[in-house]
This record gives sequence, structure tokens and C-alpha cells, in this order.
Amino acid sequence: MEPILKVEHLAISFGNNQVLKDVNFELEDNETLGVIGPNGAGKTVMLDLLTGILKPTAGKIIFMGQDITHKSITERVYMGLGRTFQVPRAFEKLTAYENVMVGGVFGNKMSQKAAGARAEEILELIGLTDKMTTVAGTLGILNRKRLEIGIALASKPKVLLFDEVAGGLTETEIGAILDIVATLKKEGYSIVWIEHVIQTMMKGTDRVLLLAEGKNVICGEACNVMASEEVERVYLGVKKK
Ligand SMILES: Nc1ncnc2c1ncn2[C@@H]1O[C@H](COP(=O)(O)OP(=O)(O)OP(=O)(O)O)[C@@H](O)[C@H]1O
Ligand SMILES: [Mg+2]
Repeated sequence: MEPILKVEHLAISFGNNQVLKDVNFELEDNETLGVIGPNGAGKTVMLDLLTGILKPTAGKIIFMGQDITHKSITERVYMGLGRTFQVPRAFEKLTAYENVMVGGVFGNKMSQKAAGARAEEILELIGLTDKMTTVAGTLGILNRKRLEIGIALASKPKVLLFDEVAGGLTETEIGAILDIVATLKKEGYSIVWIEHVIQTMMKGTDRVLLLAEGKNVICGEACNVMASEEVERVYLGVKKK
């Protein structure tokens, strides 16, 4: 079967800083692909390229068989690309319910009624039903991360792009995120999941890709990637957890 998302020779420079030189990977339908890499490797930049926030200097992005490299952010959302942000972007003064509902209205052109019904389903899925009337700004960190996932789901995506949805959480809290990701996989979503905590990647993904030196250094089963010389080299001096 054709991959749902395909990245070919993706590159981007900021002035003299060539952050990505030649990134290639495929995401299979219903696969969870973990992306690891040192700080500043270009992981967030790669999501910005996939979602259209940034334009590549070279390369191609194919989504469901279509070349989306030059499509706008909005077109990509309507086509089914959803993402979370490393720094949560919920509207602080809106409730959890309102935040997800607004995502449906603007991300999927839904009526308020339809978006409201979907918001209730999503809040249930992410474990936020009891906080639906709480304003986002007063939610704790785990619930803010849950809400980020909820907002990404609101536009009815096919592929979810997660930027450190487990970042800064305790082990128990990460367990809650892993449960959500497992549910999303069961529901058929395909996921690209950037994360620093290697244990999380081992538990929550099908394959892991190491992004470093501007390219995909190694990609494969999580345990093989973690045990690889490449990871050792890239994280030289950094203990593997
Ligand atoms: N809009 C921008 N303009 C110029 N340089 C940028 C821009 N966005 C990112 N960069 C640079 O690109 C490089 C990669 O940044 P990026 O945020 O993608 O790293 P990352 O792998 O996500 O790191 P982290 O693990 O810390 O989140 C950095 O050197 C950063 O300074
Ligand atoms: Mg980042």
C-alpha cells in the first residue's frame, strides 16, 4: 500500500544555517512513527515544513498521493493534516470545550452544532470531559497537553503530527499520553511523534527515525534504533535512558 505521507529530499536553510539538508521518510497508513534527535536538529522545523508554516528550499512532500509542497497551511488542514505545538497554543480564556469546538469550526468548516458534538467526543477520548468547562489557562500541564491533542483532532485529520506532547511530564503523566496515543492508533490515525524521552518512543511507536546532521540518520524498529551506533554517535556523551 502507498504510504500516507512521503517526504523526499526535504531541505531548508535560514541564511547560512542549513538546518535540513536531505530528509527522506515514509509514514505508512495507521503507523506511529517516532522522531528523535538532539536539540536544534530541526524536528520542529520539519513539522513546520509538513504543515506549510515554512517553505522548503528543496524537496517534496506527498500526502495521500498528492504533492502538497506548495499548498497553503489551510489547504493542508482541510486535506487532513493535524498538529500540536511544542508550546501549547490553546486560547487561554476559552474553556477546553470551546477550544476544541473552535478547532472544528475553523479547521473543518463544521457548523457550531456539529463541532460541539465532535468536541464532546474528543474530550471523552482525551480524558478531559470533567474539565470541559474549565478555561484552558488554568489547566495543569498534563491537561494542557491533552487539550493540544484535542485541538489537533478537531479538524478531523488523517495524519497527526505531535511535537513533544509528553515533554515536561512525569512518568505517570506520560502513561496517560501513551494511553491516548494507543487509542488514536486503534481508531486508525497515522502519527508522526517527536519526543525526547526515549523510553516513551520505545513504548508508543512502531518505528523510530533519528533526525540529525540535517538528515534521517537511521530509521527502524525502536529497539534497533536505540541500540544503534548512530544513536550513540549523535548523542555522544548523552546517556541512553
Ligand atoms: N524561523 C526560523 N528562522 C531562523 N532559524 C530558525 C527558525 N526556526 C528554526 N530555526 C533554527 O533551526 C534550527 C532547528 O530548530 P528546531 O526548533 O527545529 O529544533 P528541534 O529539533 O525542534 O529542537 P528541540 O528539541 O529543542 O525542540 C535551530 O538552529 C533554530 O535556531
Ligand atoms: Mg522542537
